[in-house]
Amino acid sequence: MTNGLDDVVAAETVLSDVDGAKGRLVIRGHAVEDLAAGWAFEDVVHLLLEGFVDGLPAGEDLRSAIGSARLGVFKRISPHLAALRDLEPVDALRAGLSLLADGDDLDTALQLVAAPAVITAARLRMGAAKTPVAPDPANTHSADFLRMISGRPATAHAASGLDSYLATVSDHGMNASTFTARTVASTQAGLGSAAIAGLCALKGPLHGGAPGPVLAMLDAIATPQAAHGWLAEALARGDRLMGFGHRIYRVRDPRADALKQAIARLSSDEELAGRIALAEAVETAALDLLRTAKPDRSLDTNVEFYTAALLEALGFPAQAFTCVFAAGRVVGWIAHAREQAMTGRLIRPQSRYIGPAPQIAA
Ligand code: SDX
Repeated sequence: MTNGLDDVVAAETVLSDVDGAKGRLVIRGHAVEDLAAGWAFEDVVHLLLEGFVDGLPAGEDLRSAIGSARLGVFKRISPHLAALRDLEPVDALRAGLSLLADGDDLDTALQLVAAPAVITAARLRMGAAKTPVAPDPANTHSADFLRMISGRPATAHAASGLDSYLATVSDHGMNASTFTARTVASTQAGLGSAAIAGLCALKGPLHGGAPGPVLAMLDAIATPQAAHGWLAEALARGDRLMGFGHRIYRVRDPRADALKQAIARLSSDEELAGRIALAEAVETAALDLLRTAKPDRSLDTNVEFYTAALLEALGFPAQAFTCVFAAGRVVGWIAHAREQAMTGRLIRPQSRYIGPAPQIAA
């Protein structure tokens, strides 16, 4: 089996640093915990794209520009929504992104930042037999994302909770989807192509497709008392426990606690407290079992485990979790694609041929 490019440095980047030994994530000089604790999504967009996208506005001008981009995306996709209705949300997002113009300029970047929220919300509304809700450019991105799904104004707590999530997942070094986006950008194919390719990689359950199965696992376990037995049976079947393990982190993913704190800030209602108590019991049992089952592997909690509880508490259905992940990570894909186009070369590694030698003509 190939080594999955373990420990291969594919690029130098000023965007983020993932310290797997210490369990630290720094995004353009800021610890992820600081971004998650209070940064607006729009400010994270500016942090990541500054210096990579010419003419990038800041502050209120950027918020307004992203709001206008949401409206532009909505107008562009509206005639095609019927074709998206029967697709899984992540596939509808991939198809919707394909309707947008490709390019490397500010307009392309802003429409890609805006698009996952607009396309995902429209697809979820149609799935619920409801009319899609047009964006309100005056809203913040997170508040409008939630409003376009529910049809009602988002609470400040909910918008802040989504800001925390989008900031937390916005960038994460050379993960599979970002590496994919950089490879596409290295051919000078454009930001839209890079983002679509990144989304295709993110969809896999080993990468960004894990949060949905985490929620299914919590629902299947149902009570803290059932956690150990259920998880032991899953491991005995050879299943992987979704939300645990990581190619880089050898200790707890720092984003797990950042998201746990975002949940705590969201609300103190009993139902949510019960969900968190179940998640904590499952996490404790899973870590205990993984340490016994795989003593030579440090398998700890990763970002996806508490993602499930947070996005569920924000009202997103599990089938949309990967789309919401993409709504944050698209900013990282754009930044890395621009960094690759501006500072890198065509990405073209070697391979070692182990197939048959050519037949020598008799
Ligand atoms: C994300 O790279 C990034 O930065 C990704 C990400 C980002 O922000 O972009 O952080 C987001 O993708 C987080 C990961 C989400 N995926 C999951 O939660 C799915 C469950 N986890 C895994 O399948 C796994 O841990 C990976 C894919 C995340 C990492 O796996 P590796 O590094 O390729 O390790 P491996 O598959 O070679 O596994 C090594 C051993 C194996 O056992 P053996 O065959 O050697 O006996 O550990 C076992 C694996 O079976 N193992 C697990 C496990 N993860 C690894 N066993 C049970 N449950 C798990 N979760």
